[in-house]
Amino acid sequence: MEQYIIEGGTPLKGEVTISGAKNAALGILAASILTDEDVLIENIPDVNDINVMLEAISNIGARVDRIDAHTVKINGSTISELEVEDDYMRRIRASYYFIGALLGKYRKARVPLPGGCAIGARPIDQHIKGFRALGAEIEIDGGSLYAYADQLTAAHIFFDVVTVGATINVMLAAVMAKGQTIIENAAREPHIVDVANFLNSMGAKIKGAGTDIIRIRGVESLHGTEYAIIPDQIESGTFMCMAAATRGDILIKNVIPKHLESITAKLQEMGNEVQEFDEAVRVIGAPLQRHTDIKTQPYPGFPTDMQPQITVALALAEGTSIVTEGIFEKRFKYVEELARMGGRIRVQGNVAIVDGVRGFSGATVTAPDLRAGAALVIAGLQASGRTRIEEIGFIKRGYEDFDKKIRALGGRIRYLQ
Ligand code: UD1
Repeated sequence: MEQYIIEGGTPLKGEVTISGAKNAALGILAASILTDEDVLIENIPDVNDINVMLEAISNIGARVDRIDAHTVKINGSTISELEVEDDYMRRIRASYYFIGALLGKYRKARVPLPGGCAIGARPIDQHIKGFRALGAEIEIDGGSLYAYADQLTAAHIFFDVVTVGATINVMLAAVMAKGQTIIENAAREPHIVDVANFLNSMGAKIKGAGTDIIRIRGVESLHGTEYAIIPDQIESGTFMCMAAATRGDILIKNVIPKHLESITAKLQEMGNEVQEFDEAVRVIGAPLQRHTDIKTQPYPGFPTDMQPQITVALALAEGTSIVTEGIFEKRFKYVEELARMGGRIRVQGNVAIVDGVRGFSGATVTAPDLRAGAALVIAGLQASGRTRIEEIGFIKRGYEDFDKKIRALGGRIRYLQ
């Protein structure tokens, strides 16, 4: 069984370079099949979720040339299959982007419905609402969603919840719809902007991405492009929390500091030093850190995908912190694992009450999901003694060379197969 073995207690010091944004890449890869011309995408992260997405794209008949670990060329002219296999949906939820992309280009898609997930209910009602507004018929049978339309027509869509997935999916379906689509209450995450910039580089006419109103003027067709994906906000934030929790000093390179503002602000409130440069941030962990409160919210609020990592840092700060999970209801499963390492955290519904301790002690723990797995690695790096982390397949879905990058910072982590 794959696992990490960590000998903790060493402050992490040095430089780390951040990879391309996984969640932006998932949307962009789906968007790349909207044209019949070649699309060259650079700075894709070499992580399992992306590799599965590329397999899914190749499986529907598109040409996928992996030029190197971080560059891929895609050509969607040979797509022959408008149906995505169940296995892909089970492996990555983001394969629901094929609904928007295939519907947008071929007016037809059949995609298995995403199942439940470890972090709580994740409905797709807002995606469906958007597709229907554009004139698509949606049928659900045999566990699959079948979407089809003679013609897609622009619409005025108001999302009832702020959702990243539905915002991207509806953009994909609307770029070639007739007329001007307006999405209100759109999500504003950096990867929404990146997907919109990518589509615009293919000839789409999208305005307002990054605000809560996105306007999409439909075009007849899209053309090929070359595009480099933005750096990963969550990978950056994870190393920032690692510096704080281990009382280390890490220069995190290839980041967009603006995307990290909510994380920077919280680490500073705790007493850490955060220096911002043009494309880097340096975090110097303070020996004594203070408690603070956090509530996860859509961007520019504090990201839910950073909640476990900052909670680990707060669990090592003086006093009591309150962490409120505002997006997904079941995102505190790792708390039981942290308790085995000496963490003192009580969970009441979507709130965690975190009493700071002086340090963790090594134990055998299980990663319950991707970000919680990364948080347990941070805890293990701080802990005295040896920590064994099981189920690290989750971590490899979203972090490129995680153990290698940590070793380069002086962390004692081994990967065992
Ligand atoms: C994306 C990210 C995920 C991140 C999340 C929130 C990708 C591949 N994944 O997930 O890492 O944690 O954003 O930043 O980019 N909702 C509905 N109806 C819908 C859609 C969503 O009620 O149709 C709710 C969800 O249950 C959740 C909230 O809206 O409570 C936000 O979900 P959403 O932003 O859509 O998350 P994902 O796109 O699945």
